[in-house]
Amino acid sequence: GAPYPVFTRQEVGRHRSLAERVWVTYGGEVFDITDFVELHPGGKSKILLAAGGALEPFWALYAVHSQEHVLEILRAYKVGEL
Ligand code: HEM
Repeated sequence: GAPYPVFTRQEVGRHRSLAERVWVTYGGEVFDITDFVELHPGGKSKILLAAGGALEPFWALYAVHSQEHVLEILRAYKVGEL
């Protein structure tokens, strides 16, 4: 597949707001989910809790995300790897 740029967790952590763009990680992948924030079925405030960091701790609490169609959405926003 196409090569993605590689980012550190520190770099991801600089993207925590709509103004600085909202990045998250899942596994070893990095996603810019800025354009999805307003579309999130669980609301803007919830999704922003994960801004700048890993999705796993939050998705462990909200099992509604353990579905292929959710991962498909996420995949569309991939911008890099760790
Ligand atoms: C629901 C995507 C992050 C909390 C959903 C649904 C999608 C989605 C597609 C609907 C699932 C369904 O009903 O089949 C995402 C994506 C995320 C993300 C792509 C990250 C990029 C988060 C985070 C939290 C969260 C970080 C909590 C801190 C919720 C909750 C619902 C939900 C509570 C259930 C809403 C309801 O049905 O009332 N999310 N989510 N999500 N999400 Fe997220």
